[in-house]
Amino acid sequence: TQVSKDGFEHYMLKEIYEQPKVVKNILENREEIYNSNFSKEELEQIDKIYIVACGTALHAGQNGKFALEMLTGIPVITDIASEFRYNDVFIDEKTLLIVISQSGETADTIGALEKGIRYKAKTLSITNVMDSTIANMTEKSMFCNAGPEISIASTKAYMAQLTVLFLLSLDIALKLKAIDTQTFDKVLASLKEIPEKINIVLKDLTAYKEIAKELKEVNSMFYIGRGSDFITAKEGSLKLKETSYIHSEPFPAGELKHGTMAIIDETSKIIAVAAQSGLDAKTTVNVSELKDKGAKVFSIGTEENEVLKNNSDITILIPKTIDLLVPMLAVVPEQLIAYYTALAKGNDVDHPRNLTKSVISE
Ligand code: AGP
Repeated sequence: TQVSKDGFEHYMLKEIYEQPKVVKNILENREEIYNSNFSKEELEQIDKIYIVACGTALHAGQNGKFALEMLTGIPVITDIASEFRYNDVFIDEKTLLIVISQSGETADTIGALEKGIRYKAKTLSITNVMDSTIANMTEKSMFCNAGPEISIASTKAYMAQLTVLFLLSLDIALKLKAIDTQTFDKVLASLKEIPEKINIVLKDLTAYKEIAKELKEVNSMFYIGRGSDFITAKEGSLKLKETSYIHSEPFPAGELKHGTMAIIDETSKIIAVAAQSGLDAKTTVNVSELKDKGAKVFSIGTEENEVLKNNSDITILIPKTIDLLVPMLAVVPEQLIAYYTALAKGNDVDHPRNLTKSVISE
């Protein structure tokens, strides 16, 4: 059956706008997530967690690592499915293997899961297709319920994966008594504010369109960030690449001086994600260094960072939330920048060349 665009010009834009609803829906049905999780007794046997996925789903997992480690205290290793399949890995019956896949059909993620099962790991999947190969292969499966994602560039599925991962982290942490109910309630209350805050980011499109106008002329550009802002940088870079065909490279802001700075001149364009409190000041220093070299910098930050504003050509301000949840807000401007850049270049936004929605071969 044909999924309607609901009056939007492209599925990608429609799906970006669906994100507040997607988060709300998962939160309202959060008991389903808790009920799909392992029991306290099973979780007590776990000494490490692997998160394995491809592309955008991996980025969700890399953000999930921050939440899981912070809330549960269990070490988390993330890996690219196509690498995990053939690398030496440290998995046994004390390992929880979490695989994330929008489609539930990605060949490398299936391969990774088969390996995890062979090594006797406990397996849990997060998919957006309930009756998918991956969901059916794992002991526990969590459903994103984001509705069909048609655009090849994944947006709302990413948002759903983040939401599920944060709820999962909270549930594991509470079951293992790594956090108390107050902390649990505090994070949940902040999560409940996210849909409204995403709506704020979706309100005024002027800055995204302006940045798109600048980016459409470049052949190559950079994304920087620290901590989970770096993961957001990677996701923004991937989104821009796949929709606008512009070469873009994400890297941790602190690495600039270790080589890449040599490339920077007055033709360079950079998107800086500086939204994590504590780390944003550090990234802001890098932004001013980039400005000194004549680069154009577009930043994503929070209202509190005046220095960032003064050093950036365009600053996008996202609402404040707890650091853990910043990725849910900071990614939205990037999705829109990618969308409007692709549009400005006249690309087929929903069906980028050379790509398929679900990669079912290695
Ligand atoms: C995202 O915009 C990409 N199209 C791609 O990275 C995608 O996330 C990846 O292929 C994984 O797909 P899956 O979630 O269906 O496993």
